[in-house]
Amino acid sequence: MSSEELPESLRIAYNSEIFRSAGHRLIDQLADHLSASMRGEQSHALPWRTPEASCAHWEELATHSDLSIEAICREILAGSVRISDPKYMGHQICHPAPVAMLAGLITDCVNNGTGIYEMGMAGTAMERHIVTCIARRFGLPPSADGFLTSGGTLANLTALLAARSIQTAGQQALDVTAPQLAVITSEQAHYCVDRATRVMGWGDAGLIRIPTDAQFRMRTDLLESHYQAAVAEGIQVVAVVGSACTTSTGSFDDLTAIGEFCRQRDLWFHVDGAHGGAVAFSEMQRHRLGGIEHADSVTLDFHKMLMTPVTTSALVFRQGEYGFRTFAAEADYLFQRQDDMEHDWYNLAKRTFECSKTMMATKVYSILATHGESLLGDNVDRLYALTANFVSLIESRPEFELATPPQCNIVCFRLRPRNGQDSCKLNAQVRDRLTRAGNYYVVQTKLRDEVWLRTTITNPFTTARELNGVLDALAATAETCPHSSDLT
Ligand SMILES: Cc1ncc(COP(=O)(O)O)c(C=O)c1O
Repeated sequence: MSSEELPESLRIAYNSEIFRSAGHRLIDQLADHLSASMRGEQSHALPWRTPEASCAHWEELATHSDLSIEAICREILAGSVRISDPKYMGHQICHPAPVAMLAGLITDCVNNGTGIYEMGMAGTAMERHIVTCIARRFGLPPSADGFLTSGGTLANLTALLAARSIQTAGQQALDVTAPQLAVITSEQAHYCVDRATRVMGWGDAGLIRIPTDAQFRMRTDLLESHYQAAVAEGIQVVAVVGSACTTSTGSFDDLTAIGEFCRQRDLWFHVDGAHGGAVAFSEMQRHRLGGIEHADSVTLDFHKMLMTPVTTSALVFRQGEYGFRTFAAEADYLFQRQDDMEHDWYNLAKRTFECSKTMMATKVYSILATHGESLLGDNVDRLYALTANFVSLIESRPEFELATPPQCNIVCFRLRPRNGQDSCKLNAQVRDRLTRAGNYYVVQTKLRDEVWLRTTITNPFTTARELNGVLDALAATAETCPHSSDLT
């Protein structure tokens, strides 16, 4: 069939000259947006719209059948959070490196999967390069191997599935009643660890939470007593998950102590380094990961501090072959070498949850190949330096207090209440009003049942102007709140 025989709609949709000229204009449009946004020229980091208003807007737009991609782009930019704006200090998402954005375009253009090697040759090889790089950064042995996957949540679940498979190997053969299984972690661990144990069917008893110290780090001195209490109840502990770092306050658990405990008790040691694993790229901050070299598995999100668009996460196993133990399912139409799994590293779907998986390696690989690993370290160092500035500013202003000295780019602080105000209500209301105003974006969290404001200093283009500015904006917003316990 020649292209003349194609329906006109398909000929237009796939026309490469239309693609070329629209693409050039689109890149110009995005570059203009980025440079204005990075210079802080836009008034809003968060152009807030209610969900109802947002839906009505997009419904109305969908009634136009002739929108150009430029018009759609304009609307998306207008209706999206501006991570590239120096006033953005919200959740743990990064301002992506432009080269990674371009790699995203290439990725979508070639549209190879990375489930099996023959469908994703370039992506599979790039992925191996990245995994080798981070295994080295974590100080894992040459036996280490892993893969990229869609988010830290999935990486943590995949790690714990492997831990279960390995720690309970042989028990089915003994034909005994399966014991209740559990994972130990801190009360500050990301909720996905709890979710993973529930997905595995372990219920409420499947997660043993260790209290944290004043800096929200796991009380490793309580590991033994919690472990013994579990054993006394007939629970089989499979793994301990250390947080490097925690989500709410960015606290790094003592990985050396957890690793030693796991070694003594023959438990799987998983490190959730989704956020803080990034400091492995910084010569100045990598000491915070001391002990990670003893981990059986480590999760790392490139989309948090490492300049990569969401979602690009890695899961690395100390013994690469453990990754093959997670999923033993047959898929004859995909894999022919079931008998030789250990060497079949290049058919990644044998080890990942995903079947079709985007070539997420292209973005990280492009950053590494064009700028080098040092760029990632420079970014981490810049974010730490900005965080230190922010902390000094908070400490210099009596109307604010810090929850704990930050250990990474996550800062929890709050406005001190005045005249009988309820601290939780005040801070929640201020944050709500600030969000609706939209100039700055900060979030909130609960620590020991109290509301705290929370920022992630994630944009290297943030300056002292914005750090002062957000404190001014918070203080000014607090002035608009009722000066009594009437706060709603
Ligand atoms: C420590 C930690 N683990 C896991 C996750 C979940 O990662 P993702 O959002 O990539 O699924 C997060 C996200 O904030 C996190 O901070």
